[in-house]
Amino acid sequence: MKTISNGLTRFIQYFSALIVVAFLGGCNLDTRMSTFVTKGPIAEEQLSLFMLTVWVTFAVFIVVGGVFVYAVIKFRERPNDDRPMPSQGHGNPLVEIGLIGASILLLVIIAVPTLQAIWFTQDTPDDPESRLGSWYRGEGLAEEEAENPLIIKVIGYQWWWAFEYPQLGITTANEMVIPAGKVVHLELRSVDVIHSFWLPRIAGKVDLIPGRTNAMWIQAGDNFVKWKEKKGLAGEGPELRADYATYLKDEIHNYYYGQCAEFCGESHARMLFRATVVGDEAFTAWVADEKTGHATPDGKSWDEWYSAYDKNPEQLTGDLNDGLKLFMGRGKCATCHKVQGNPRALGVAGPNLTNVGSRQSIAAGWLNHRAEDGSIDLEQQYDNFYKWIHEPNVVKPGNLMWKANGGGIGELIDENGEPALLTEEEINKLSLYLQSLK
Ligand code: CUA
Repeated sequence: MKTISNGLTRFIQYFSALIVVAFLGGCNLDTRMSTFVTKGPIAEEQLSLFMLTVWVTFAVFIVVGGVFVYAVIKFRERPNDDRPMPSQGHGNPLVEIGLIGASILLLVIIAVPTLQAIWFTQDTPDDPESRLGSWYRGEGLAEEEAENPLIIKVIGYQWWWAFEYPQLGITTANEMVIPAGKVVHLELRSVDVIHSFWLPRIAGKVDLIPGRTNAMWIQAGDNFVKWKEKKGLAGEGPELRADYATYLKDEIHNYYYGQCAEFCGESHARMLFRATVVGDEAFTAWVADEKTGHATPDGKSWDEWYSAYDKNPEQLTGDLNDGLKLFMGRGKCATCHKVQGNPRALGVAGPNLTNVGSRQSIAAGWLNHRAEDGSIDLEQQYDNFYKWIHEPNVVKPGNLMWKANGGGIGELIDENGEPALLTEEEINKLSLYLQSLK
C-alpha cells in the first residue's frame, strides 16, 4: 500500500513539473510574431487594451472562484453531518440587481477604451513629421502629395502580397519597406478571396475583402514628440534629435514578420510577408533603386539586347543572358512578372520581381535565405529559387504559377522525348538570373 501511494505521489510530482514546463515554454514573449513586445503606437494601443481586459477578467475569475471555493469548503458535508440545508438566496433582489450592476460596470470599463482604440486605429493621424514633404528626399514627388503621409496599397492574392507605393510610382511584393517613426497609411484590398494583413509587432489585423477597400495606418516606432513624452524630455535641439535617431536605429530599424491571418485556401499558411523598417535616407535610396530597376546582364542597352534577341538569340551568351532569354521566352516568366527597366517584362498577374535578388525570402516568405547577421545566404537563395521553379506545387500547393503552366514548370518530357517544360540546366540558369536581380 505504501509503495503504491509513493509511486502515485512521484507520478503526480513529475506530471505537474511537465505541465509547468509546457506552460512556461510558451512564455517567451520576445518572439518574431509576438504581440507583447510592441514596436509602434497601434500595437501598443492594442496591447494595453488586451491587458486591461485580462485584468478585468482576472478579477472576475478571482471573485467568482473565491466565492465558489469558500462555499465548497464551508458547506461541504461532513461525517455524521446533521446540519440543515443552508438558506437558499435564489431571487434575492439585492444580490440579483447587484450582480447585474457589476456586470454592466465591467462591460463599460472594457467597452469605452475599446471604442476609443477602434477610432484611434481607424483614423490616420496627421503627424507633421510624417508628411512626405518633410522627410522624403527622392525625386518626382507630386506637389499635392507633400502634405500626405506615405500611402501603400496592400493587395492580397492567393497566396502572396503586392505592395504598391502610388505616390512614388513603385511596386514590390511580399517584402514591404517602410520608414521608421513615420505614419504610413495602408489601403487594403483583395483580388480573389478574403485575406487578413497581420504584422503583429507593429499593428493588428485588418481584412482584405474582395470588392471593397479597407484602411488602416501603421507606424514602426514612436515619432519624435511621443518619444520625448515617454522619456520625460522636453525641447528641441540637435542633441535630442540625435538621441531620437539612435533610438530609431537601435530599437526600430529591423526586419518584421507578417502573416495572412484569414483562411484563404490550401496555401493560406504559406502566405507570409515581411516589413523592413529603415531610416529616411535608406528608404529614399531604396525607392530610387526600385525606380531605376535593372540593366541587361552584359551591359548592352535594352534596345541593343532586344534587337540581338529578335535577330539571333544565340549570339547572346553566358549564364545570365541564357537566364534572361528563358525568362522572356521558354519560361514565359515575363507574361506574369514585371521587372523594372526591362521594357518587355511587364506582367502584372504575378509578383513584381524588381530587385527580387535583394529580398531575404521568396514565395511570400515561405522560402527564407536570410542569414543570422541579416545578410543573404547566397547558396540558400540559389537553392530556394531552384526549388521554387522546379516544384512550385510542392512549395506552395495550388499556386497559380503552377496551374497556369498546365500543372508544371520543370522537367516534363513530351511525347517525342523532348523537354516539354524547363530542364534542370534551364532552371539552373533562370535561378542564377533571378539571383542577379539586385
Ligand atoms: Cu491569405 Cu490566408
